Amino acid sequence: MKVLVTGGTGYIGSHTVVELIEQGYEPVIIDNLSNSKIKVLDGIKAISDIKPRFEKFDICDIESLDKFFENNRDIKAIIHFAAFKAVGESVEKPLLYYYNNLVSLMNLLRAMKKYNIANIIFSSSCTVYGDTEELPVTENSPVLPAQSPYGNTKQIAEEILSDHAASHKDFNSISLRYFNPIGAHPSAHIGELPIGEPENLVPYITQTGIGIRKELQVFGNNYNTPDGTAIRDYLHVVDLAKAHVVALKRLIDRSNKRNYEVFNLGTGKGVSVLEMIESFNRVSGLSLNYKIVDRRPGDVEKIWADTSYSAKELRWETESSLDEAIKTAWDWEKRLAKEK
Ligand code: NAD
Ligand code: WQD
Repeated sequence: MKVLVTGGTGYIGSHTVVELIEQGYEPVIIDNLSNSKIKVLDGIKAISDIKPRFEKFDICDIESLDKFFENNRDIKAIIHFAAFKAVGESVEKPLLYYYNNLVSLMNLLRAMKKYNIANIIFSSSCTVYGDTEELPVTENSPVLPAQSPYGNTKQIAEEILSDHAASHKDFNSISLRYFNPIGAHPSAHIGELPIGEPENLVPYITQTGIGIRKELQVFGNNYNTPDGTAIRDYLHVVDLAKAHVVALKRLIDRSNKRNYEVFNLGTGKGVSVLEMIESFNRVSGLSLNYKIVDRRPGDVEKIWADTSYSAKELRWETESSLDEAIKTAWDWEKRLAKEK
């Protein structure tokens, strides 16, 4: 079965493509390579023995998208990863984010209608919960005002999907709200490829460990948490990728309860920044160079997922431990260093 994976050469997309191939699906990737590299396809081939079909274009370009669907009438489902994701950049360039993240979705939804494609999985984010007071957050926790234009694109996209589902009974959709994906494929053939200085914690840690960065800045140690540093729910990207295959099966065999559903994807466990450093030190045998600095504007104090609904409905739970996930991130960083 052919599945379109937008953003399939990106970080989460590439790991999902590997899992799709493993489960016998035929992924077809569209990516404009704005935040990924074509050589990711070689990494996928090294793992799966199959180089997935790839088309390079921008899904905001409706004509190219139309042509694509004209030539690929047998696509049964879409997993839509393609989006811009840098929170800080979205504050500086909000229109770029609203345009790319929402026009891409609108184009896909219109094409789905035109070409009779029923199923779509959307990459949402725990950022939709904003600065929540309910912990752990359930799928029914309130969606609070967005902390950034990026976060707002995810909230608006979810509303678009929900409204579209309400008016189109034959449309089938799932939003997956990822918490903090980390790590890489255990083969170290694919992983996260941050362009420039990473915004996210784990690539910053591994780049500091390998010597690309001088030290990690820990953003704040005066939060109301046991060690004062902020808490997140970090899940292994391979576990996250597997959840997409589960959600896809749910849509295809129509075992979904409603035609728009939302699931949290996390471990259910909160981990502090200092605990992340300790984990890195354990798996690498190094002692990471870090210093405490001011809080990063816009950061929430703590958030982790209530995973009971996804465990019950999707029968999906994370399998990897934190140390295992961090080890794969470290192995990947070492592989990148060797290739340089
Ligand atoms: P990524 O940047 O690695 O992958 C996104 C891919 O989409 C890139 O390869 C990029 O080139 C491509 N792309 C972007 N805009 C495009 C367009 N208009 N047309 C074609 N291709 C386009 O990001 P990721 O970490 O793999 O994230 C995937 C999705 O998951 C995104 O929607 C992101 O917002 C969401 N998400 C990510 C995280 C995270 O921490 N990584 C957390 C929650 C949600
Ligand atoms: C994690 C923790 C930082 C870097 C972002 C997006 C969110 C979602 C996931 C897409 C925080 C601290 C970080 C550093 C640090 N993405 N940190 N020093 O902020 O939870 O979420 O990615 O949807 O929308 O906002 O992830 O990895 O940036 O930070 O101390 O150099 O690490 O303060 O507590 P975050 P992150």
